[in-house]
Amino acid sequence: MKNILQPLALAALLAASGAQAQTVLKIGYATSQTSHYGVGSTVFCDEIDKGTQGRYKCQQFPNSALGGEREQIEAVQLGTQDLVNTSTGPLGNFVPEVKIVDIPFLFRDYDHARKVMDGPIGQDLQKKMEAKGLINLAWTENGFRHMTNSKRAIVQANDANGLKMRTMENKVHMDGYKTFGILPTPMPFPELFTALQQGTVDGQENPIPVILSSKFSQVQKHLSLTGHVYSPAALILSPAVWNKLSADDKKVFMEAGKKAAAAQRKKVNDDENNGIAQLEKDGMQVVKQVNGESFRKAVAPAYAGYAKEFGADKIAAIQAVK
Ligand code: PAF
Repeated sequence: MKNILQPLALAALLAASGAQAQTVLKIGYATSQTSHYGVGSTVFCDEIDKGTQGRYKCQQFPNSALGGEREQIEAVQLGTQDLVNTSTGPLGNFVPEVKIVDIPFLFRDYDHARKVMDGPIGQDLQKKMEAKGLINLAWTENGFRHMTNSKRAIVQANDANGLKMRTMENKVHMDGYKTFGILPTPMPFPELFTALQQGTVDGQENPIPVILSSKFSQVQKHLSLTGHVYSPAALILSPAVWNKLSADDKKVFMEAGKKAAAAQRKKVNDDENNGIAQLEKDGMQVVKQVNGESFRKAVAPAYAGYAKEFGADKIAAIQAVK
């Protein structure tokens, strides 16, 4: 009798005191906590806290505090970091099939991109990621990328000719950008602000939420709304955590991922709508009417290489999504 009563009494005591086992998950991302990545990550953290009655909480590491995106993806795969909210930029180095979504001018607009990422094509890529030890809870978003530089206004592809631009460490991007005459300089994001400040590179390309939150208006004069490539992002959990979750907690995490993606995309929309005026106020000269056709024409030859690497049918399947 004594042996049964003791654990029961202990359980009652723990319940009465509200004490329970708590796991704190480390989540990292490149930009500030008020940026699109921060907004999405905060919603995720709040939702898992609520959904598991406080058994799972997060500690957030914004501003690349845990390293560049490539390093963080690797750490999540190894299980030394729990979560990363990252662009697909370096993801293709781990899961080659993902590289297809980094093709310039592949997506028409946000509706098209989000439909593809949330539909069967995006889900198939999520499975490919799982097979490589990366649990993609949801496709979040970085946004359409635009060019900034310190030299001149870019209206058409020719204007970019000869500019030394920092790019992500992504061959699909670099192959495309070379067709604009750009000299691509791959570099981890944490090194970028200083490189722009010191003139090591003339420019860079990133979505409006990144240009805003990273204060590139302090070191770049020209912004051109080239929208030359869509930059998807993913909220990735380590299998070391996923495999320990109960079936119910897995549902909570998946649902939290969906809500995070919705919030992050909304923040991207808000920044696209309001951020350009802010950047102008901060002194940037913005080219809003870019000659998109000149860029599309320039990049066309690179599509032969993309078709060889990914399959023309796979590219066409993405383009055909309405
Ligand atoms: O340019 C990059 O490396 C990425 O767009 C960034 C800023 C790390 C966000 O994913």
